[in-house]
Amino acid sequence: MEVLGIDFGGSGIKGAPVDTGTGELLAPRHRIPTPRPSRPGAVADVIAEIARHFGWQGPVGVGYPGVVRRGTTLTASNVHKGWIGLDAARLISEKTGCPVSVINDADAAGLAEMTFGAGRDHQKGVVIMITIGTGLGTAIFTDGHLVPNCELGHIEIRGKEAERRASDAARKRKNLTWKQWARRFDEYLREMERLFWPDLFILGGGGSKRADRFLRYLTVETEVVPAHLLNEAGIVGAALACQPDAVPEV
Ligand code: BGC
Repeated sequence: MEVLGIDFGGSGIKGAPVDTGTGELLAPRHRIPTPRPSRPGAVADVIAEIARHFGWQGPVGVGYPGVVRRGTTLTASNVHKGWIGLDAARLISEKTGCPVSVINDADAAGLAEMTFGAGRDHQKGVVIMITIGTGLGTAIFTDGHLVPNCELGHIEIRGKEAERRASDAARKRKNLTWKQWARRFDEYLREMERLFWPDLFILGGGGSKRADRFLRYLTVETEVVPAHLLNEAGIVGAALACQPDAVPEV
């Protein structure tokens, strides 16, 4: 199946046609900066522009940085509040003229890694995918099945939401060295380990591109691996969301 995968991130909206059987991009990805403010209409216009760039007329899968149930976006921690309670699938479908599925961005990245990347050989047990970007996105898989919309970037550490302390945006905002940031992120991983006892952590998102700078500072006992698809996981996983039964209840 060929699907246009779209990754709606804090700084850029990226898309490419994806072969969902192989996980390969069928053309180089196209990126447009995220409109500021990131109002739904403006973002949907950008997605329509990306679809036009590829002359796209088939299904479109969109990764959204918040909770998504059956096409409706329910939270908006790092984007415009106009997304809360919006039938996003319908809006984007109207703008693109294509059938649209919407999925949480970390769930999308996790699906891609479990199918084609670092989680491929971990179809038994519990795997937690964490995307390190503007926020901390999380996805949990048990025996290869996704538990959608786990919002574990918002657990409290030292009285603050974890993503405010340990996201990539926090590292940049506070000008932290890799070692300083890794200590914070390690604290977060240890808490996740204590609560979920996973078999594997997969680290994705922009921050994971520099895994060589921080992996050595992590002290968790659980195996930790960087994502294999890096930048492309969000696009590939969003495309996978268009497959029947990819996500429970979507
Ligand atoms: C949102 C999550 C999202 C993550 C990464 C968090 O602030 O609550 O839904 O997956 O950011 O974008």
